[in-house]
Amino acid sequence: MSTSTLFPTLRREISGLSVVDLADRFGTPSYVYDLATITARIADLRAFDTIRYAQKANSNIAILDRMRRQGVVVDAVSAGEIHRALAAGFCPRTQPRGIVYTADVFDQAALDLVVQHNIPVNIGSPDMIDQLGRVAPGRDIALRINPGFGHGHSQKTNTGGPQSKHGVWHEEIDDCLIRADRHGLTVTSMHMHIGSGTDIEHLSMVCEAMERACQQVGRTVTTISAGGGLPVPYRDEDSYVDIERYFGLWDTTRNRLQDQFGHTVELEIEPGRFLVAESGFLLAELRAIKQMGDNTFYLLDAGFNDLARPILYGAYHPISIAHRGGANAGELDVVVGGPLCESGDIFTQAEGGFVAKRRLPKAQVGDIVVLEVAGAYCFAMSSNYNSKFRAAEVMIEGGQAKLIRRRETPADLLAAECIPE
Ligand code: LLP
Repeated sequence: MSTSTLFPTLRREISGLSVVDLADRFGTPSYVYDLATITARIADLRAFDTIRYAQKANSNIAILDRMRRQGVVVDAVSAGEIHRALAAGFCPRTQPRGIVYTADVFDQAALDLVVQHNIPVNIGSPDMIDQLGRVAPGRDIALRINPGFGHGHSQKTNTGGPQSKHGVWHEEIDDCLIRADRHGLTVTSMHMHIGSGTDIEHLSMVCEAMERACQQVGRTVTTISAGGGLPVPYRDEDSYVDIERYFGLWDTTRNRLQDQFGHTVELEIEPGRFLVAESGFLLAELRAIKQMGDNTFYLLDAGFNDLARPILYGAYHPISIAHRGGANAGELDVVVGGPLCESGDIFTQAEGGFVAKRRLPKAQVGDIVVLEVAGAYCFAMSSNYNSKFRAAEVMIEGGQAKLIRRRETPADLLAAECIPE
């Protein structure tokens, strides 16, 4: 058996509930989220004045509601995410503001909602200042600055530096201030997010860049946001970030700015992955076992339509097996894939699409295979490719499993389509 401590490859329960029972009750594939884990991660970040959840990681309204009840506020990147936040009870007018719109462009639907609900905007492109200023002059705005460097778990999630489309380039702050003046907009908040799944070394570099940027804007700044990007362990050898140390760095930056400005500066953090990743499990059924030359394939009823991170980034997710019955019969190196008509539909792949083997317990058709650390950017990036129905989502709260999104039906699949006469 594996000696791993963080991610054992045999799993009977999630938060005290039997995996097999959960699969039987809700069907497969299903996402299961353990609310207690989310609550623990929120508690880890309490030192920050404001925890602003980047809901793109997992925007189910039940999860948003439970976060709201714990004092967390949200970030929205689209009209759809604003609608979700409103449906989950967030109010744009509370202090701290319940919803902030952060993006590099406005589409018309998002701009209309921002104006209608008085939602603060975190500006990601200078053009947005004019577009907002024309229809809603006199508001307070935030500037998202690209500090000229970035870092992520993949080049695709690095959001800083000249190769990234995100934020206002750090040398264009003056231009933004001039544009803002033209419309009577005031920059009261400054924001930096250099990438997702980065590390503490890179994140720490942001503090200095933030201080410089704030000095350029001046005393109107009353809030700074450290962005998201906190990593979580996906492998046994990964470790947790030292949150206390990270907060300490930002607190020092905030205190220096307070001294310079002579007023209070609020400190926000904007994590997505950190709050939800570890809470999530994708339960799938093992539907076929087959041999292709030297490779043994475990084929599941979940594919990259359900969980796309391996095919997109070569991302690694821990995998475990819940046997339906019978004794554990040892281990085997296997390739784990899904049902889609595309060779890339493999959960055990490295970046570049190379199929990798994983040492897993021997299993039989009918056993449940669990893809772990699947609470962030998993259901949220799922699709209907191959006309698959999107999975059900379940939340475990107080020892009870509750359905928070039913499995899609053929009617859902066809709902938006029509055949013209
Ligand atoms: N704030 C902004 C402005 C962001 O763009 C993001 C993530 C976050 C916060 C939250 O970052 P986090 O704390 O989750 O690292 N689909 C990719 C991740 C894309 C992240 C996009 N932006 C993945 O599956 O790894």
